Amino acid sequence: MKKDSQSLWNAVDSYFGKLFAPHDAELNAAIRANRAAGLPAIDVSPLQGKFLQVMVQMTQARRVLEIGLLGGYSTIWMARALPKGGRVVSLEYEPRHAEIARANLRRAGLLRRVEIRVGPALESLPKLKAEGAGPFDLIFIDADKENNPQYLEWALRLARRGTLIVVDNVARHGTVIDGASKAGDIRGTRRCLAAMAKHPRLSAVALQTVGMKGLDGFAMAVVAR
Ligand code: SAH
Ligand code: DHB
Ligand code: MG
Repeated sequence: MKKDSQSLWNAVDSYFGKLFAPHDAELNAAIRANRAAGLPAIDVSPLQGKFLQVMVQMTQARRVLEIGLLGGYSTIWMARALPKGGRVVSLEYEPRHAEIARANLRRAGLLRRVEIRVGPALESLPKLKAEGAGPFDLIFIDADKENNPQYLEWALRLARRGTLIVVDNVARHGTVIDGASKAGDIRGTRRCLAAMAKHPRLSAVALQTVGMKGLDGFAMAVVAR
């Protein structure tokens, strides 16, 4: 049953993907480089990348903040949608990931549009705030899930009215519904979702997705006031 569902989701993902998110040489090279370097295969899917790109266009974002760079695959999708002078600031803990991402972004001709900050995001975020960075127009949260509640708080500090906040991996094969779980990622995600749902400044929603990464989902919130 589970396997049947997954192969059907793969087939539909592949059909939609060919229509809406076909890979060019640079996207192919990025994914190949990420796998060759042994990075975990947790990049957004092509369609999810395109989804983020459409979000950047919809919000007419010029300043994007990404928490969780990995090999820069999602970054490529978002950076490509920026207008002239637009910027992505992307935060990454692992210097090795940042190095691979830099090569991928250079190959894609996007290095000038992306500023990579290496270190724990919870150290980079206060620095960004202190420097007067932002407000960001779109913030994509996709790093260590246990810290999602703190990332949401920092996102709000670095936002303006109208900023879109997108959180990846909020369903994770359905494990998110386990309120008794002691796993850090599930607890972090659940606390983040609860905070988004009740936050007085946010209008928020969560959607499940299926596809090549299984059952998962995005939470999204607009800073409404
Ligand atoms: N957005 C990427 C995937 C990110 S995977 C894409 O779709 O292509 C999550 C990344 O967050 C990993 O590279 C991991 O090293 C990084 N990460 C984990 N903990 C972190 C932390 N505390 N601060 C910053 N980055 C962190
Ligand atoms: C994991 C993390 C991600 O950001 C993702 O998109 C998928 C999986 C993980 O840590 O398992
Ligand atoms: Mg993710």
